[in-house]
Amino acid sequence: MYKAPRGAADILPGEQPWWRHIERTAADLCQRFAYRRIDTPIFESSALFHRSVGEATDIVEKETYTFDDRSGDSMTLRPEGTAAVCRAYLEHGMHVLPLPVRLYSLRAPMFRYDRPQAGRYRQFHQVNAEAIGDAGAAVDVEVIELAWRLFETLGLRNLSLLINSIGDPACRPAYLDALRAYYQGHLASLCGDCNKRYHTNPLRLLDCKKPTCQPFAQDAPRSADMLCEPCRDHWRQLQDGLRILSIPFAVEHRLVRGLDYYTRTVFEVQPPEEGGQSTLGGGGRYDGLIQQLGGNPTPAVGFACGIERLILNLKRQGIALPPESEAFAVVACMGDAARPVALKLAADLRRAGLRAVLAPSGKSLKAQMRYIGASGATHALILGDDELRQGVVAIKTLATGDQRLVPLADAPAAIAL
Ligand code: HAM
Repeated sequence: MYKAPRGAADILPGEQPWWRHIERTAADLCQRFAYRRIDTPIFESSALFHRSVGEATDIVEKETYTFDDRSGDSMTLRPEGTAAVCRAYLEHGMHVLPLPVRLYSLRAPMFRYDRPQAGRYRQFHQVNAEAIGDAGAAVDVEVIELAWRLFETLGLRNLSLLINSIGDPACRPAYLDALRAYYQGHLASLCGDCNKRYHTNPLRLLDCKKPTCQPFAQDAPRSADMLCEPCRDHWRQLQDGLRILSIPFAVEHRLVRGLDYYTRTVFEVQPPEEGGQSTLGGGGRYDGLIQQLGGNPTPAVGFACGIERLILNLKRQGIALPPESEAFAVVACMGDAARPVALKLAADLRRAGLRAVLAPSGKSLKAQMRYIGASGATHALILGDDELRQGVVAIKTLATGDQRLVPLADAPAAIAL
């Protein structure tokens, strides 16, 4: 028997209410923050991700799904959304729009080849928001506020917002030198990956999850202590802005993120359980990326969060889904004469904008009622010979057990109430 690929899941009908709830909440919030929706392809030329996410990142080195298409071009299933949104921004000349251009995506599938476990999948989905074209710290604050409000509106509690500044091309080289100088004496104690990172991507030394490497990160030089004047101002304004909005945060000096395009602000939101694998969402500023992709220098900031992880945390915290109030009528009938009337009634209900189906045919009323009970219906509509004679239908409200007779023509209104 075939199975879904490892690390990729079917989203079954029973799970869809969670997805709908998150998508509606996110779309509503994004619109309130004046973000406009964009959807980009699920694959892009491989070079786009190599240039943006970075050659020496775990994502590009170990996690991409890359293939040559039939014309021999190298394509990659997108591991993240930011690079593609920037590509679209450039391709469609969005720089002529009033800046910043605010864009969001919903239920955007992403692909990373990683060891699957709870909350970590090979195909997962993100809510993603990007504000392109404004260098001010107020937009960093806005993006963090958007993320924070999303979690808050969904009802998640006890989350931690971690922030850091990793500087810009003016101050980062000196910081990387300091980091290398500090780690040089410890190389023998570090894992193989970190020995490589020391040469290719020293910032990522701070991010190693191995217990043998972590103590060294704790005492390492801190990027926020070595910022140039403009980065320091930005860093201060970011924290002031978060305080003004009463968004609680903690500075985490080891936070560097797993993608290379960040400058200045980086942030992550963590649930109460420990561990990087559980990060609910993250993002930051990426002032160099659009230029790196061939555009004019254009500052930008954004964030993404994983929908599967949101659902996992909502369930863990025992948060119930808000009831979907939509009425759902199932029509049961007894006797052959009632069947065409039931058929027409279900069609009338649907035309009136309601959700309605017939109970399975050829079954006893008892079996039909059993089906109705299990179907998630809000109303059972029962048609028998008596009802036919009187031109009425019996409507049973399943939540209360109340039953009443209603003229057939009034059934849609009776259920919609
Ligand atoms: P990221 O931190 O790589 O950032 O991913 C964002 C979120 O996607 C994570 O916090 C997590 O919730 C979810 N996620 C990542 N990997 C997996 C996985 N294997 N399984 C399930 N969920 C996962 C980015 O992708 C950046 N593009 C965010 C950004 C937007 N930065 C600026 N703008």
